[in-house]
Amino acid sequence: MTDDVRTETGAIENLLREERTFPPPASFVADALLSDRDILARTASEEGFRAFWTEEGNRLDWMEPWSELYSWEVPYAKWFIGGKLNVSVNCLDRHVAAGLGDRVAYFWEGEPGDSRTITYAELLDEVCRFTNALRSLGVRKGDRVAIYMPMIPELPVAMLACARIGAPHSVVFGGFSADALAGRIEDAACTVVITADGGYRKGASVPLKRNADEAIARTTSVEHCVVVRRTGEEVHWYPDRDHWYHDLVAGQPAVADPEPMDSEDLLYLLYTSGTTARPKGIMHTTAGYLVGVASTHRYIFDLHPETDVYWCMADIGWVTGHSYIVYGPLANATSGIIYEGAIDFPDRDRWAQIAAKYRATILYTAPTAIRALMKYGHTEFERDDLSSLRLLGSVGEPINPEAWAWYWKYIGGERCPVVDTWWQTETGMIMISPLPGITTLKPGSATFPFPGVIADVLDEAGNSVSLGQGGYLVLDRPWPAMLRGIYGDPERYQQTYWSRYPGRYFPGDGCKRDDDGYYWLLGRVDDVMNVSGHRISTTEVESALVAHAAVAEAAVVGRSDPLTGQAIFSYVILRSGHEPSDALAGELREHVAEMIGKFARPKQIMFTPDLPKTRSGKIMRRLLRDIAEQRDLGDVTTLADAGVVNTIREQSGTAEE
Ligand code: PRX
Repeated sequence: MTDDVRTETGAIENLLREERTFPPPASFVADALLSDRDILARTASEEGFRAFWTEEGNRLDWMEPWSELYSWEVPYAKWFIGGKLNVSVNCLDRHVAAGLGDRVAYFWEGEPGDSRTITYAELLDEVCRFTNALRSLGVRKGDRVAIYMPMIPELPVAMLACARIGAPHSVVFGGFSADALAGRIEDAACTVVITADGGYRKGASVPLKRNADEAIARTTSVEHCVVVRRTGEEVHWYPDRDHWYHDLVAGQPAVADPEPMDSEDLLYLLYTSGTTARPKGIMHTTAGYLVGVASTHRYIFDLHPETDVYWCMADIGWVTGHSYIVYGPLANATSGIIYEGAIDFPDRDRWAQIAAKYRATILYTAPTAIRALMKYGHTEFERDDLSSLRLLGSVGEPINPEAWAWYWKYIGGERCPVVDTWWQTETGMIMISPLPGITTLKPGSATFPFPGVIADVLDEAGNSVSLGQGGYLVLDRPWPAMLRGIYGDPERYQQTYWSRYPGRYFPGDGCKRDDDGYYWLLGRVDDVMNVSGHRISTTEVESALVAHAAVAEAAVVGRSDPLTGQAIFSYVILRSGHEPSDALAGELREHVAEMIGKFARPKQIMFTPDLPKTRSGKIMRRLLRDIAEQRDLGDVTTLADAGVVNTIREQSGTAEE
């Protein structure tokens, strides 16, 4: 630990020891969009709830007005029923028509240092050209399009062009492997894949086209592959199938009719990990989703689009990027920053250089990133002027009070409210979060549900627990951006989210409400891990491990990690003829990276002769978690062979990355 970091740790400890709460600064309240403290009480009633979302819905441009706000037949909601609209029109055309064509939509910064500034008028032009290009390939309303791209401007362009056509996109994060991409292409039978030759990551190139080629070779539905030239690296070319993006858009007119979409038409699919090895294609539809993300973006980030420069540091490949880099911000005519690379590359303060360059006012990132910066210490970015910042956000995993306080003090300069936003791929929009002009903050708490959201914390039996107690979080009233199901699997939808407590949405998170009613999210309560804010299924990693020739059986658990929140801990039983070794552990890690993606590579692999199982043969994960955490073991009498636990515990030679 350097002296600077040690001093910072001391300062943070002092700050938290005072048990401080953080009311909104008076200067912030003066200009806040929302300062009406009654809003939560008012939207709790059905009438207030309807009034709130009606007003939010009316902010959009409709091709045909909706007639009914929503309907609810558990577990299916419909919103803005009967309306017709197009998402790309609401994100682009209407702003240009309102005279905002010269406003910057995105300040884009490439990892090697190249940059582009794109106005709303330019973005609309490019989206229209690419819409025409996709139409020339035969893409029509309802066709599914896979997008596997780096963080370059063509990524939001591709999403918006799909939205203009009414062709649902399925964006697959560029860190996923060819295998993972193939599974997602196959599940939705995508006919087109949009990718790039490669993408930059910490100076190296990620071979996206090569992965896409491999993935397409394993699937049968793809007719066309569109490739953006980014790195200039050599790629294989299949002339009947492949098209350079720049060739396709050249000569296309900069106007393209938007498809009138029904409020409930599918806007996109986004795959996320569940408790089985097969990812779920989460379905989001048009109107409710757009209204939900625009409204939450506006109020939670206290957006003043004329003056704010907003930077969400997530990757567009995850839901945070969909909702809060692309759709919410563009619907609100925001000027945003998109950065292609790693926030600490090539300099530890790369992110701060970018924030200073564009005079960013709002920063939205994940606790893992904050903890990484905290480890470097604030002197690393002292030379960068961050005085433009006025609001900070956190997302993706529980934020520990120390990271919260460090963020507030050293990045926010003790003047910026911190909004800790809880939500999921499935919820589409932020569900629990402070309202920065109203809410008094407590470090580590996401505070209260968004206006109109009704949440509860239940015990095993489904009774609401009293304040001060922990339990399972549920959501009780439909919300506009909620998922409309799992693609092709209505049973799994019902089973996963609506059966634990019949009729109530079960997100899979533990939660505690303190004596003041503040919500404290406690992490997942199912077999889903959260590593650096990324959701990874234990069973998905287990399946990848057992697909290796040397592995007979595997069990995977999340173990708490000071940097990444959780880290992947794997127990592996080898087939006979294979001996434990560091080399084999390394090989298994790479194997998982190949099957899923580098971010799913286990941190630790423990070779073991056996695994603790119940008499019925179920692996005892709780026990494995406890061993991984070195916690005291509770009652193990249901173990088929209690000796196994000792064997595992005595194995000290685990191979760590
Ligand atoms: O466990 C919660 C955690 O991330 C899960 C959702 O993951 P994903 O669908 O990938 O979306 C991440 C970005 C919204 C949740 O079930 N999570 C997300 N935000 C928070 C959080 N846990 C605690 N506090 C948060 N602010």
